[in-house]
Amino acid sequence: MYNASTKWWRDAVIYQVYLRSFADQNGDGIGDLAGLKSRLAYLKDLGVDGIWINPCYPSPQVDHGYDILNYEDIDTVYGDLDQFDGLVRDIHDLELKLLMDLVPNHCSVEHPWFRSALRSNRNSKERERFIFRDGRGPDGEQPPNDWRSAFGGPAWTRTLDGQWYLHMFDAAQPDFNWHNRNVQEFFDRVMRFWFDRGIDGFRVDVPTTIIKPINLEQHETSSMVGQDRPELHAIYRRWRSICESYSLRREVTLVGEFWDADIATSSANSREFHQAFYFDLLVQPWSAAAWRRAIDGALNKFDDESRIVWTLANHDVHRQVTRYGIVRRNSDSCHPIIAALRPRGQINVEQGERRARAALLGLLMLPGAQYIYQGEELGLPEVLDLPDDVRQDPGWKISDGSDPGRDGCRIPLPWSSEPPSFGFTCGCEEVASWLPQPEWFGKYAAYDQIKDAGSTLNLYRSALHARRSLRDPYREEKFSWGESPEDIVLYYRGSEFACVINFGDEVYSLPVGYRTVIASGHISSDELPGSTAVWLQRE
Ligand code: BGC
Repeated sequence: MYNASTKWWRDAVIYQVYLRSFADQNGDGIGDLAGLKSRLAYLKDLGVDGIWINPCYPSPQVDHGYDILNYEDIDTVYGDLDQFDGLVRDIHDLELKLLMDLVPNHCSVEHPWFRSALRSNRNSKERERFIFRDGRGPDGEQPPNDWRSAFGGPAWTRTLDGQWYLHMFDAAQPDFNWHNRNVQEFFDRVMRFWFDRGIDGFRVDVPTTIIKPINLEQHETSSMVGQDRPELHAIYRRWRSICESYSLRREVTLVGEFWDADIATSSANSREFHQAFYFDLLVQPWSAAAWRRAIDGALNKFDDESRIVWTLANHDVHRQVTRYGIVRRNSDSCHPIIAALRPRGQINVEQGERRARAALLGLLMLPGAQYIYQGEELGLPEVLDLPDDVRQDPGWKISDGSDPGRDGCRIPLPWSSEPPSFGFTCGCEEVASWLPQPEWFGKYAAYDQIKDAGSTLNLYRSALHARRSLRDPYREEKFSWGESPEDIVLYYRGSEFACVINFGDEVYSLPVGYRTVIASGHISSDELPGSTAVWLQRE
């Protein structure tokens, strides 16, 4: 009998599949569902508990799937619904879970609702589903307010009849009006559509921006968006009740992409979302004090550790090896949060690799769930030198390159060391992948790393398997800090397990009475070198 209190998600490790760049089975240079199916055994062997797939719904792909024109289908570039259903079965046969991406803030300008809104009158019910307003100034030629889009540039675009519509991201992504009942009911259906096909949950895209003040014109700054407003929570509760309606059959989950830690905690603590991403750790530099502060921040805010989703990378940020490998930062002209997510400067890749391996162990023993972005298990660095003419990220385009953009972490994965596609495109090696892979990608090939005991891939596999075997003993064990010098992060799970990360350069003498479960690099029996981490178990 199904036990509704299993909370399978509470300490799950979920692997994020950026489908376009994962594996291409049909030979068009773009990853697809069949490619993912062909690599499920790889993911099972890696030792993760489930998969989250970035949006694969029909889309003009302006923001690579985050601009959706049909929420209830699969883009033909990736496959079709039959293939999707088969994938769900295969994933479940392997006892893995599957999460999709729910994008409620905006759709595509090609969505039938938006197209009919453009064809309709100013005060029509079609326009009510979006956020249309008259402009300011005598002829309404100025936008209704000064809001900026997250990608840069104004958050308003003018239509042919002179009204303006709001888009918090690209102009091709019009924002829905969540005060409108049609919109609310539409998303109820979308959620049920995918839950009925068997998925186990949604990662919800930017859930904080969906509600805007009704009198937009009076608000001169877009900080009014993303505030913790009561209407937001009413919608979150509505989504949660849809999840609960499945509870007799299985336990489905909602994980919110919250960049605001207060809304993250209030939504998780009030059980509207099952879990919330806690990005504060991701934005920290390589510093023990910064890690301690960020971890404490989460543990103090969430009332239950299993509500926290930790991650160190995703499809929106520079890869860990590159972030942790920065030896001298450029003074960036972009917004500080962009500079933290996608920093530029001089990189020492070897240093970044050691630190990223250590960070993995630091991450995986934290209480809660962890999400791993594809390619991190290969230790891939960010591709920083893409020529301008191949770049596709709207954020890079709109900011004229002052935001380095997100293409460099989305390069198709290297599976083998054979150019030109490094095993990404199956069978048809002459086809160029949608973003070009650099020559050095072959060095990181997954299938070669499997054969190398010291590879980053094997570190991930060993760590995930060790975590799985320790999970039962330490699952209920409380997190506590250990005494340590400034450059060392030392934390315990109960009295039996410890994780030690050396953020400095000096060797650190490990606590006595413990055996090493796994280390991120070479260690002697009782000393931990710099940029290395270890899990310990009491002897
Ligand atoms: C996603 C981005 C996307 C944006 C707009 C996010 O936070 O992770 O990749 O561009 O939402 O949908």
